[in-house]
Amino acid sequence: MKEQKAHPTFSSRIGFILVTAGAAVGLGNVWGFTYVAGKNGGGGFVLVYLLTLVLIAAPVFMAELLLGRMGRASTPSGLKKLQVRAGSRLPWALPAWVGLVASVFVLSFYSVIAGQVVAYGFEALKGGFAGWTSAQVIALDADFKSSPLQPLFWSALFIFLAGAVVSLDVRSGLERTGKWLMPILLLMLVGLVGFAALKADFSAGFDFLFGFHDITLSTHILMEAVGQAFFTLSIGIGGIMLLGSYMGDNVHLPKASAWIILMDVSVALLAGLAIFPLLFSANMDPAVGPGLVFVTLPLVFADMTGGAVLAFVFFLLLAFAAFTSAISLLATPVARMEEGGISRKKAAVFLGAVSFILSIATTLSFSSWSNYYPLAFLGLHGMTFFDLIREGVNNIILPLGGLAFALMVGWGLKREDVRAALPIKNRALFTIWYAVLRYLVPVAITALFVTAIIGE
Ligand code: PHE
Repeated sequence: MKEQKAHPTFSSRIGFILVTAGAAVGLGNVWGFTYVAGKNGGGGFVLVYLLTLVLIAAPVFMAELLLGRMGRASTPSGLKKLQVRAGSRLPWALPAWVGLVASVFVLSFYSVIAGQVVAYGFEALKGGFAGWTSAQVIALDADFKSSPLQPLFWSALFIFLAGAVVSLDVRSGLERTGKWLMPILLLMLVGLVGFAALKADFSAGFDFLFGFHDITLSTHILMEAVGQAFFTLSIGIGGIMLLGSYMGDNVHLPKASAWIILMDVSVALLAGLAIFPLLFSANMDPAVGPGLVFVTLPLVFADMTGGAVLAFVFFLLLAFAAFTSAISLLATPVARMEEGGISRKKAAVFLGAVSFILSIATTLSFSSWSNYYPLAFLGLHGMTFFDLIREGVNNIILPLGGLAFALMVGWGLKREDVRAALPIKNRALFTIWYAVLRYLVPVAITALFVTAIIGE
């Protein structure tokens, strides 16, 4: 057997927190959260989302980190070790393998959206948007999507840069990038919110996000809330587990989790507080869907003095957020390949290439394949490749993966082992978290799936 290199760890607590927050904070917080909240009517949805985040997603996040730190290896091998330790005959590594494949799929659509973000950043840098007519803004989005080469160029560039970071060792690649980009991102975001508070209809935006509006709770809304909560914390496909495996033993897992989750939620809410006031002061409709940041928002920038600067800061922020998540998506399968003796560089090139090829399907979903529904024969009418990948991962793979991780920690491992590995001194807090993993998470996720299946 060849000698195994020691599994790396991050050099500091703050490094771990910033990198993991960087993985969590991404397109999901800004592009995803604002369009899903906008589409579902704001306040009521936000409340449901926050509740699922705190009650279900946050405990699972801690469970996934813990599995990573206890396994200290790539995700399938780490889980395999823990399976042996738990004396279980179930295939623990399976959800990790599914997660590795899912990571590449997520990166494939992520890079397309992020690619458009980067392209828009350049447009703003050239002075774009300021003074544009609405026809121009709409045409920019439409032209961009309909010429497959342009989006493919930007998504290739994005994947290439992510690959370059991931091919470095963990400390000089992931850790250094997160340490720089996250603080800059937070600063830019606070600046944008300040701008919205001074110059836009802040109270309308605030009321839309936090005011209670009637909502009818449908299974679909609940699924979207759970899917969004899992997606935003990056849980269910092993990305968090891998970062957990790099977490030093001196890091207090529950406290660090609290910081990371707080940052993630704050970024989503602050993004809402920056974007919705701008939309309302320009009388725009928040319920437009995924085009919110690419059409509606640029329309607002077009009408404002200093719009180009604002647009540049906004798209740069979004690009940074997407980038720190993309490197975590790529790092998870890369770690597994590295364990198999392949260099990080080769693994990053290979996985980047696969993900780029898949991204062609997403790109075409916005143009010539926009009416092509590959799984229509299964009854999934009206869903393009992009919809299938995004909703399939968000609404099915992430919750099921999260469920598997909760069951492993709640039922598979020994209670004393879990408690010692956390470690958590406060008995009551531990008991609540543990009970949530054992009962609430499984019941809630199963109930959701059953109603979704019966309800269709
Ligand atoms: N959490 C990231 C976001 O909100 C997306 C992501 C999901 C990243 C899963 C890694 C793994 O955009």
